[in-house]
Amino acid sequence: MTGTPTDPWRAPIAVALDAPDRGTALAWAAAVAPHVAVLKVGLEAYLRDGAPIVGALRDAAPACGIFLDLKLHDIPNTVRGAARSVAPLVPAYLTVHASGGPAMIAAAAEALPATAVTAVTVLTSLSEDDLAAIGLRGPARDAAVRLATMAVRAGARAIVCSPQEVAAVREAVADEDVTLITPGVRPAAGEGSGVGDQARVATPEQALADGADLLVVGRPITAAADPAGAARALAAALREVRA
Ligand code: C5P
Repeated sequence: MTGTPTDPWRAPIAVALDAPDRGTALAWAAAVAPHVAVLKVGLEAYLRDGAPIVGALRDAAPACGIFLDLKLHDIPNTVRGAARSVAPLVPAYLTVHASGGPAMIAAAAEALPATAVTAVTVLTSLSEDDLAAIGLRGPARDAAVRLATMAVRAGARAIVCSPQEVAAVREAVADEDVTLITPGVRPAAGEGSGVGDQARVATPEQALADGADLLVVGRPITAAADPAGAARALAAALREVRA
């Protein structure tokens, strides 16, 4: 991975820049940039600040990849058009909901050859009871494996799943060159360990050990009193796992 003179190793972390305003998102990006590989722009920032936020983040953190977490979910023709609309931004990752089906995923992948179209399997905020309520056949692990397998066949090059399902998903797509991305990551104790609205969580160390390639981390870093310090500490902990 690319690094900086101050830190030659960037952690496999995508920081979720779910900020209340543009200035805060850019400040968080600059603070965490020396320590992490990827910056994640979600709906909150993209819908408020628009596409120019991506260029501003690149200026603030030139060595970080951009993860556009728009979680597209519509008919294939509409998703193809939406994917074309963001193509000039050349994000490293763009999310779509796997439950949009294979034709929708294929449409996004065709429209974005330079981007890893990333299929979200089962939101990490959903419990088993929630899956039953929306009629998604569980348990969550089986649903994640089913959706991931379908999505990769359709052209997804990355998968989002909970850390509790990542080992099973890795096994299911073992023969494919697929990046596994896990949100729902929380330190075991101390600052940042609060689960918040997440339901299916694990520690960052466990997620990596179970086969995740990239960890999505939001509030454990951005809600910390010192986001740069929290990113640095998490990067150091992950370096130990990888050593
Ligand atoms: O603050 P926290 O670490 O919970 O942030 C997690 C981020 O990952 C949020 O930006 C959320 O939108 C995103 N995400 C998720 N579950 C998914 C896919 C994305 O929590 N399945």
